[in-house]
Amino acid sequence: MTPATSLFSPVEADLRMLAENLKQLVGNGHPILSAAAEHLFGSGGKRIRPAIVLLISRATMLERGISQRHRRLAEITEMIHTASLVHDDVVDEAELRRGIPTVHSLFGNRIAILAGDFLFAQASWYLANLDNLEVVKLLSQVIMDLAAGEIQQGLNRFDTSLSMEAYLEKSYYKTATLFANSAKAAGILSEVSPSMAEHLYDYGRHLGLAFQIVDDILDFTSSADTLGKPAGSDLRSGNLTAPVLFALEEKPCLDVLIEREFAQAGDLEQALEIINDSQGISKARDLAAHHAKLAIEHLADLPVSDSRYSLINLADYVISRLY
Ligand code: IPE
Ligand code: IPE
Ligand code: MG
Ligand code: MG
Repeated sequence: MTPATSLFSPVEADLRMLAENLKQLVGNGHPILSAAAEHLFGSGGKRIRPAIVLLISRATMLERGISQRHRRLAEITEMIHTASLVHDDVVDEAELRRGIPTVHSLFGNRIAILAGDFLFAQASWYLANLDNLEVVKLLSQVIMDLAAGEIQQGLNRFDTSLSMEAYLEKSYYKTATLFANSAKAAGILSEVSPSMAEHLYDYGRHLGLAFQIVDDILDFTSSADTLGKPAGSDLRSGNLTAPVLFALEEKPCLDVLIEREFAQAGDLEQALEIINDSQGISKARDLAAHHAKLAIEHLADLPVSDSRYSLINLADYVISRLY
């Protein structure tokens, strides 16, 4: 499930440098906490968010070339993302991430929470050192949004009256905010016009929504082996995502199984069967494709370049993960 290298080819060398730098930056902290962080960075991940930051940086700088501050922004973006995963895995009690055991399952919840906090704090420090107040505001907003998203998700568990709007709002807070604000921040470091900055934000927002919807579909259709993280756990834990919300519109009988929190034997299996029998997954695919298309439309004003081409293809890649 790693994106074809050709997709990131304009920033391939940049991403290699990023991988090295991340280990160094995080290695500078406390030994126990950095062991936990090192464990995660060493294992990789798709690096989609820093790739977007780097591609936007290149697409907006062109022959001027990207600066150290663009690179640092990409690193900060991946640090914030990784921190959010460490905490998310504690909340979700997930055992596997990026194909290896999660931080909390190896080191315990206490270390995982501290390691996540440590990563957020470190990211904030590097962020402040960019000396760009607008960028600091954008990325600190992201850190607030991520926490708000987790809280919203926690409060809405097993609530079958959850609207599609509320699901998309939560997905914005949990996922799209980082795509959107880091994309805009990259543009701001390149001193793009205010309207271009907004287009970059909207590109990231729609791509992030598409990405989360796809992730939510894959939780139903894929396996832990391909994903490198547990599959099939969203519904069980009451996290009602796009496929379920669409299925609920069509199959009211799903309601009672979810509302009683799958208390009776066979409830979960029956619910999964109902969802598979519905248009839920295919409607969710359409919704993801819709957002990917909107993302691409926001690139219209960006000058033609290899990096712009990759940003367009990235939206297709996000959807192609489903097939
Ligand atoms: C996982 O993100 C969290 C979601 C927003 C679905 P990724 O799928 O980008 O995770 P890594 O970084 O590749 O492990
Ligand atoms: C995204 O949501 C996680 C964060 C943005 C913190 P998920 O809960 O769907 O992520 P996975 O499925 O665990 O990767
Ligand atoms: Mg999770
Ligand atoms: Mg998920």
